[in-house]
Amino acid sequence: MGVFSFYRNGEPEHWLDPTAVQQPAAPPPLVSATRPATASPIASAQPIAPIISRPSPEETDIARASANQLVSFDALAPLPAPIAPAKKAAALATIREELGECTRCALSYGRNKIVFSDGDPNAELMFVGEGPGADEDEQGIPFVGRAGHLLNNMITAMGLSREQVYIANIVKCRPPGNRVPEFSEATTCSPFLLRQIDVVRPKVIVALGATAATYLLGRKSALSLLRGNWHTCRGAKLAVTYHPAFLLRDPRQKKETWKDLQMVMAELGLKPPKSATPSE
Ligand code: URA
Repeated sequence: MGVFSFYRNGEPEHWLDPTAVQQPAAPPPLVSATRPATASPIASAQPIAPIISRPSPEETDIARASANQLVSFDALAPLPAPIAPAKKAAALATIREELGECTRCALSYGRNKIVFSDGDPNAELMFVGEGPGADEDEQGIPFVGRAGHLLNNMITAMGLSREQVYIANIVKCRPPGNRVPEFSEATTCSPFLLRQIDVVRPKVIVALGATAATYLLGRKSALSLLRGNWHTCRGAKLAVTYHPAFLLRDPRQKKETWKDLQMVMAELGLKPPKSATPSE
């Protein structure tokens, strides 16, 4: 199998429908988005002025998330100062530590292993998928199953190795039956992915499939409309392409995916290895 086998081959894959648009979960109880007044007006001898309390940007984000509104990763938090390359691995380890044996959402009940990430903390290119499948849940490493094999081929075709990129998912625990993560699961997990992106600070992020694109960009849109254009996310350029699991189901889209990857390669100054030429 050559490095362009991702472009050529594909068998049906059942578990993920990247074109599916999930329905928002029932909203969690709303937390008041306004700050409480600190001093009791009764204690004051002064005439009582009307209290105009505006929510802070953070409170606004919490309120919007509580109301099941999508918020882009760019709007979630200000971009912190970049971390020195030598300190990135330790910074990621700290995030992993803070994640702990997470029970922040119901996905924790069914998971075997938390799937944090794989690859180079100093990578210029980051791939973001949807969530772990059965193989990933077993091994604790993203994209190690059949879709992962295809992703590896895609990376090799770009002239890179898997060790040179950084790979993570919108959710770090396997959704039961490989269903699409619920809104509340994705938004509960997102702050950790956001911090990972901010540490790695890739030049380019590739959103694999609709779920990754939806949460990174904070809007639901047809993949066909998002592909082929540059977006932005956390100081990086963001490209959207098909999820490898979808390509296993519909190999005809590999041609389109290769166009997306070539756009990314041009941005990063990458050339495909000379030894391999796409066969289609
Ligand atoms: N699909 C994903 O979205 N992520 C993985 O890690 C594996 C399969």
